[in-house]
Amino acid sequence: MKITSSVSDIRKIVLNWKGRGLSVALVPTMGFFHGGHLALMRAAGSKVDRIVVSLFVNPAQFGPNEDLNRYPRDFERDAGLAEDEGVDCLFCPDARDMYPSGFQTWIRVEGLSQGLCGASRPEHFRGVATIVAKLLIIVQPDIAIFGQKDFQQLQVIRRMVSDLNIPVNVIAHPVVREPDGLAMSSRNIYLDTRERESALSLFQALRLAEEMVARGCRSGPEVVRAVRKHIQSYNKTKIDYVFLGDPKTLKQKQDIVGETLLALAVWVGKTRLIDNTLLNSNEQIKLQNINIR
Ligand code: PAJ
Repeated sequence: MKITSSVSDIRKIVLNWKGRGLSVALVPTMGFFHGGHLALMRAAGSKVDRIVVSLFVNPAQFGPNEDLNRYPRDFERDAGLAEDEGVDCLFCPDARDMYPSGFQTWIRVEGLSQGLCGASRPEHFRGVATIVAKLLIIVQPDIAIFGQKDFQQLQVIRRMVSDLNIPVNVIAHPVVREPDGLAMSSRNIYLDTRERESALSLFQALRLAEEMVARGCRSGPEVVRAVRKHIQSYNKTKIDYVFLGDPKTLKQKQDIVGETLLALAVWVGKTRLIDNTLLNSNEQIKLQNINIR
């Protein structure tokens, strides 16, 4: 596996591959790999000839009081895991190269960035859209893979790619979970034992909503009330939002008709966790045998 922090190096590497007719995937990440990141890399490997993973803790997507400085990092471990997944090149640029002095060009995906996480993190998606655009322009992959765990991010990126005619195929990967259901996240490492128990309330609340819909409930307010109640029954949880809406426009919906996004953001102690599921009123949802207290 090649490792480079240089923009000109990665360009040369990819140009060489493309000159030989090889297809290329980009998996953008902020490192501290877990099973979710590795699943994206594996999915990339099943679709293309060469995989580039970018590893960059992007300062522009962190707010002034967020966890940029304590965001978990372990480069040696990440490099080993990526290599084991068959990644061909790990691109880990410097912040000074991504945002040199005088930098002043930002990408705003206006409507989609405003609600949900955008409400409490006003500049977050501007930072995400800008860095992802830069990475796509630098690497010029055929496909780029993103996780559905960050559902709003995925939709923001899809919109940007379409609006700016960026020639890349954006591929979504389902949420990867721990055996008990907690969505994998680099931030899970912040949770102590009791918080880890409370963190499971997000997944359980999503399952509860799926069960309600499978049993015929179509009332948004009823589902939201049950989800809130379940999460609030756990210690140290503070709900940021429980959102029910259209998965494409991210506009709020009253009733669960057709495919409906249920997205959550919850503080567990000092850690903000997100998770989501797609509720479908047309299909019988397969209920998993998970105990919900
Ligand atoms: P990061 O949080 O490192 O996530 C990198 C990619 O892994 C994203 O596409 C994210 O959605 C996906 N991912 C994370 N946890 C996942 C899980 N449990 N299941 C499936 N996919 C998961 O998201 C970012 O970095 C950044 O915002 C980035 C896009 C790299 C821009 O800086």
